[in-house]
Amino acid sequence: MRRPLAGAAAAAGASSRRRALQGCAALFFLAYALFALLLWSPPPLATLPGGARSRPLHLDDDAGGRGAPARPSRHAHRETLEAAPSGIVSGLDLGRLNYTRAGGGGGSLRSVAAEAAATGARVFADLENAALSSPLDASDSSAQEDRCPHSIVLTGDEFRARGRAVELPCGLTLGSYITVAATPRRAHPERDPKIILLKEGDEPIMVSQFMMELQGLKTVDGEDPPRILHFNPRLRGDWSGKQAIEQNTCYRMQWGTPIRCEGWMSRADEETVDGMVKCEKWIQDERSTESTTSWWLNRLIGRTKKASLDWPYPFVEDRMFLLTLTAGLEGYHVNVDGRHVTSFPYRIGFGLEDATGLSLNGDLDVQSVFAGTLPTTHPSFAPQKHLEMSPIWQAPPLPDEPAEIFIGILSAGNHFAERMAVRKTWMSAAHRSSNVVARFFVALHGRNEVNLELKKEAEFFGDIVIVPFMDSYDLVVLKTVAICEYGVRAVSAKYIMKCDDDNFVRIQSVMAEVKKIPSSKSLYMGNMNYRHTPMRDGKWAVTYEEWPEEVYPTYANGPGYVISSDIADSIVSEFTNHKLRLFKMEDVSMGMWVERFNKSKPVVYVHSVKFCQFGCIDDYYTAHYQSPRQMLCLWDKLQAGRPRCCNMR
Ligand SMILES: *[C@@H]1O[C@H](CO)[C@@H](O)[C@H](O)[C@H]1NC(C)=O
Ligand SMILES: *[C@@H]1O[C@H](CO)[C@@H](O)[C@H](O)[C@H]1NC(C)=O
Repeated sequence: MRRPLAGAAAAAGASSRRRALQGCAALFFLAYALFALLLWSPPPLATLPGGARSRPLHLDDDAGGRGAPARPSRHAHRETLEAAPSGIVSGLDLGRLNYTRAGGGGGSLRSVAAEAAATGARVFADLENAALSSPLDASDSSAQEDRCPHSIVLTGDEFRARGRAVELPCGLTLGSYITVAATPRRAHPERDPKIILLKEGDEPIMVSQFMMELQGLKTVDGEDPPRILHFNPRLRGDWSGKQAIEQNTCYRMQWGTPIRCEGWMSRADEETVDGMVKCEKWIQDERSTESTTSWWLNRLIGRTKKASLDWPYPFVEDRMFLLTLTAGLEGYHVNVDGRHVTSFPYRIGFGLEDATGLSLNGDLDVQSVFAGTLPTTHPSFAPQKHLEMSPIWQAPPLPDEPAEIFIGILSAGNHFAERMAVRKTWMSAAHRSSNVVARFFVALHGRNEVNLELKKEAEFFGDIVIVPFMDSYDLVVLKTVAICEYGVRAVSAKYIMKCDDDNFVRIQSVMAEVKKIPSSKSLYMGNMNYRHTPMRDGKWAVTYEEWPEEVYPTYANGPGYVISSDIADSIVSEFTNHKLRLFKMEDVSMGMWVERFNKSKPVVYVHSVKFCQFGCIDDYYTAHYQSPRQMLCLWDKLQAGRPRCCNMR
């Protein structure tokens, strides 16, 4: 049990009063919402409690780096960069891809890359011209984008024909609702090892449950769509032995903290969502399967004192329900058969406009789905909602002196929220240090209005390097080469680190690790994989043509590794000389390049699991799969001197 009984009883007592007051509360809430809207203006510093700016991360104290011998600065190159149209473009010569060599692996990837670069060059040139001729056109053209229906009606058969999902092409907006009429099926013996671990001879457990999910169908290519809301009623067979409803989000394969309703009403002191509790109470015992009428009569007989409205669990096997999901101001609300059941506060990084699909799976027969008050135009990726165009997040210009470490952060064009979260957290520590430089590396997006916004963002913040090829999952490796090029040529850094925009980096502790290795040595540091073998089938299969060898070289996981600049330098020269072998997995590619380098000069390989691949461990160097919300949480903890994880189960 998760809450003390006393609290539950108190909550039950408060329940009737609360319901009586609900009318007033609704009125009050409306007034409050209006008031809040009038007053609202983005407070740029409010999200950094603990005086983020007044407590630097001591990076500047590492004076050792400044006295170290400097790599020759390539001023010639820096001039050409500054001469480039806006100074935000990678200096990597992608034209080098347009060269086919006989032999040498990765030939087909190279031609795909050459094509992406040729298209990218055209798109980027158009971008420059569009920005020059009429900077205001962008908003007009996006307004004329395809109109979406105001409502969608599907019968159960139509719904099943579409793979038990309905597409909401323009996503949701404030006030949108989806009503589902469906019937939970009778419990069935469950043998799926993902749900139940059965030992030999065990009776299978009877399970009835279903999953309703709002998904971000269009957000990222080549990844499972984020689950913006996962609503999972467990009618029978939950580990707790109780009927429960679990709600959660899932972002790039990582589940957030679930909100679990077990029939206790949320504590009185817990935050509400648009004035409603996250979990309503329902009665616990077997009465929930009894007919409502007899329960109602029982309640009336001999009870004159306080009438408390106790309802059974909202879902019953074999009985149709009508569920309505509503998008409120602060979160999603679920009503079943006209009664409020749960509310789920919005989580940062999961926008309403991104909720472009609804799926219903599990032990459930759907009779119909109706979605209404939908937005008729795509509010698009709404960068203005995520970007805080405040000068305090702008990057300082590149230092004149060679930097100690350059951190290249892989990002995608439409990851506006992710980049903003990085800026407001660990990247700000890099900006305050004179020997750490960090930049995002972004390729061009398929949608031109994303590129226009990206260019504006790059010009404003000065922390984005555009690598002008058409982005695709298989070509991420080009961004890695671009990071090496920028780190060596533009920044003259002694070390180069690569990470992703869902990585949280503790720069100070990464540097401390790096410093343990004498600076004269070549270094490759990260979470190493030894003798891994390619997956030859499934969604992420690697063909023999792409990777003929049976094993991969020793390689560090992609989200967070460090190399010394001599290795980076050799990668860039090999690329320039058309000799660099490219493989679609950028981390394996790096392992391959370092292995090759190691043949001429020994490389110190340093392995640490603190460069976390799956999520986060306390005292991490880098944490991975962190949503923007978790980034802010990690940062707060780090500012308070505690390198602890957020929302780990
Ligand atoms: C390079 O690309 C251009 C077009 O982008 C093409 O016309 C030319 O033949 C290519 N050259 C080589 C060597 O592939
Ligand atoms: C690096 O090269 C040395 C020989 O110089 C070799 O013993 C070592 O195994 C190599 N390391 C890797 C990871 O390939």
